[in-house]
Amino acid sequence: MSYEAVDRVPLLDISKGNAADHEEIMAALEEVVKSGWFVGGPNLARFEEQVCEVTGAKHSIGCASGSDALLLSLMALDVGPGAEVIVPSFTFFATASAAWRLGAKPVFVDIDPKTFNIDPESFAKAISKRTKAVIPVHLFGQCAEMDPIMEIAQANGIDVIEDAAQALGAKYDGVGAGAIGRTGCFSFYPTKNLGGFGDGGLITTNDDELAEKIRLFTNHGMKPRYYHSEVGANSRLDAVQAAVLSIKIKRLDEITNARRANARRYQQLFESAGILDQIEIPSETDRCHHVWNQYTVRIPGQDRDGFRDQLNQKGIGSEVYYPVPLHQQRCFLSLFTDPDLLPETNRAANEVLSLPIFPEMTVEQQNLVVDRFVECLKGAQKEYRIAS
Ligand SMILES: Cc1ncc(COP(=O)(O)O)c(C=O)c1O
Repeated sequence: MSYEAVDRVPLLDISKGNAADHEEIMAALEEVVKSGWFVGGPNLARFEEQVCEVTGAKHSIGCASGSDALLLSLMALDVGPGAEVIVPSFTFFATASAAWRLGAKPVFVDIDPKTFNIDPESFAKAISKRTKAVIPVHLFGQCAEMDPIMEIAQANGIDVIEDAAQALGAKYDGVGAGAIGRTGCFSFYPTKNLGGFGDGGLITTNDDELAEKIRLFTNHGMKPRYYHSEVGANSRLDAVQAAVLSIKIKRLDEITNARRANARRYQQLFESAGILDQIEIPSETDRCHHVWNQYTVRIPGQDRDGFRDQLNQKGIGSEVYYPVPLHQQRCFLSLFTDPDLLPETNRAANEVLSLPIFPEMTVEQQNLVVDRFVECLKGAQKEYRIAS
């Protein structure tokens, strides 16, 4: 094939993703502006119902961000000073900062090298008398091993908060991400599978009482107006975001299927390139329905950052999620996490590279990603041979 028409592939293309719904979104935004109803209202109520349908959870409560969804969940479960919250170290910062901000102690544990998700054994070993909650993260769009996690948590009286920020629509044993633990936390940051026009988040739960408490916390702990039974936050999903998301969520299955098809095609392309002895590609585990927010390969034994620079010079966008594990972040050094306890986390941070998998990516673009990737890999080998 010819590459004349395609010579660059971005990591993702948000404008292209929004183009399909452009007119409907603009009309809905005009309605919001005309109505003057910018916080709460029918758009939010409709969107919350749609998320209940997608996840299978009984309740869903919009909030300002995925980070706040985690914070509000912990607040509603009375996590505070003296409590420990077990989190994987290989995740986005917000998973751990939520606990820290409430005066609780994040306790970092290791991951399963195949899925990048929290290792249930590592979780079990980290439990102490002070453990109040665990936050399994459904990293890159694939659910953590929820069966053993729920079992261990229940046996020890620990609340499970699912960090499903990257996993709307994912399933574990047929159950929606966010409908398994006490709460599920979602993000609608623009790079997510369902991305808004700014920040946005949402909490799901099957527990009536908890749902009421979380809703109260999103609005200053205020009910009725100007009467405060709790010290809550101002953390609401505004009507503009809700209107946009309520339209975009109608195509979530289509978007997920396109991402899944891209993941399958990557597997075929990397297999036929004959490089699977040099890189590790991600896979879907038996019990999961993966929604592929990221396609993250491992490049062991290489200068990963140098490799990424070369790929970038060849016009291929990529990203490292995440280069520094949380237990090594300066702000958490006072927790003195023994780095030897987290070998898989440390290894992943050195090896991972996420490649474009956005739903609108064309076959030509995907072929180009793999061709350029293979060129970089061969180039790296040549350099190695010259140096040795
Ligand atoms: C795993 C994970 N948790 C939490 C968050 C926080 O979400 P937000 O950026 O909406 O605050 C994100 C998103 O960036 C995430 O990827």
